Amino acid sequence: MGFLVLDGLTKRYGATTAVDRLSLTIDKGEFLSLLGPSGCGKTTTLQMIAGFVEPSAGAIMLDRTDLLATKPARRGLGIVFQSYALFPHMTAAQNVAFGLEMRRVSRGERDRRVAEALNLVSLAGFADRFPRSMSGGAAAACRTGAGTRHPPARPPPRRATLQPRR
Ligand SMILES: Nc1ncnc2c1ncn2[C@@H]1O[C@H](COP(=O)(O)OP(=O)(O)OP(=O)(O)O)[C@@H](O)[C@H]1O
Ligand SMILES: [Mg+2]
Repeated sequence: MGFLVLDGLTKRYGATTAVDRLSLTIDKGEFLSLLGPSGCGKTTTLQMIAGFVEPSAGAIMLDRTDLLATKPARRGLGIVFQSYALFPHMTAAQNVAFGLEMRRVSRGERDRRVAEALNLVSLAGFADRFPRSMSGGAAAACRTGAGTRHPPARPPPRRATLQPRR
């Protein structure tokens, strides 16, 4: 038996299956990379191992003990999160809108630019999603969206008349 064993590990969020019956065995000292397209369930898998996300089905064994019966704080496992400097209390649309609000872009114009930015980064269906429920790739795309569609800062008003030197 391997050191870390995932057996039929599954996580469902409503209609979305984030991780679908994943089984693998990792030996002690082995270094494993999870590779796959954005949204395929890599982070969800790590979060289930660390104990931040409760699996919908399946089992995790660490050193022959049932990890799911062990409290996260007692698992002795760490996780380094992806971070995209998004405001956690704001949806994707609100995160993208924030920079525009700060630049005092009008409501109508803001809504138009937010929709345009989310569309540009293929997040049109994610407008009302909070960062915690996005995959890392989606969060990165949101960050990119938030960095686009900003009008340039207004140049300072030009003087109409030259002031004579004193
Ligand atoms: N809290 C949540 N609520 C709803 N759906 C979620 C939640 N967390 C993740 N998902 C969905 O589960 C799927 C897997 O997400 P996950 O973050 O595990 O992907 P990932 O492989 O780490 O992607 P990336 O390479 O973009 O980081 C995605 O479709 C994502 O939208
Ligand atoms: Mg991820």
